[in-house]
Amino acid sequence: MGPAFVNRRDELGLLERWWARRGPQLAVVWGRRRVGKTALLHHFAQGRRAVFHTGSRRPAGDELATLSRSAARFVEGRDLLLNPFHDWPDALDSLAQAAQDEPLLLVLDELPELVEVSPELPSVLRAL
Ligand SMILES: Nc1ncnc2c1ncn2[C@@H]1O[C@H](COP(=O)(O)OP(=O)(O)OP(=O)(O)O)[C@@H](O)[C@H]1O
Ligand SMILES: [Mg+2]
Repeated sequence: MGPAFVNRRDELGLLERWWARRGPQLAVVWGRRRVGKTALLHHFAQGRRAVFHTGSRRPAGDELATLSRSAARFVEGRDLLLNPFHDWPDALDSLAQAAQDEPLLLVLDELPELVEVSPELPSVLRAL
């Protein structure tokens, strides 16, 4: 276990207000290296219906297989272990579906690592 999470009250307040909005919402969290972005999002995700994915510049199929495993418990009517997401639109559509009745938080940490391998991802997010 790391040290206890401290401060970040303003940032958590902003995220709480963002989370309370209705309908699909996109938030961008940015800051210097090692400033605490990942810790903030981990803290915020705790106790929420959340899928946390960390990009690591692997082939898109590997990233999507990892995301499929994290998302499996939220996606009904499809065995994501046998039939993982085949592309980003598939992943985001399925997660949007899973968020119909109850909000679902998707964190894409290290987004630039994902975009490097899947350059279409920003426009897929924008379309959603
Ligand atoms: N609010 C906090 N309370 C306590 N420790 C924290 C807090 N925020 C960050 N840290 C610690 O500071 C270090 C850097 O934080 P973190 O990895 O979240 O930064 P980051 O912005 O995601 O970094 P990177 O740009 O490398 O992804 C970690 O060891 C983390 O546990
Ligand atoms: Mg980080």
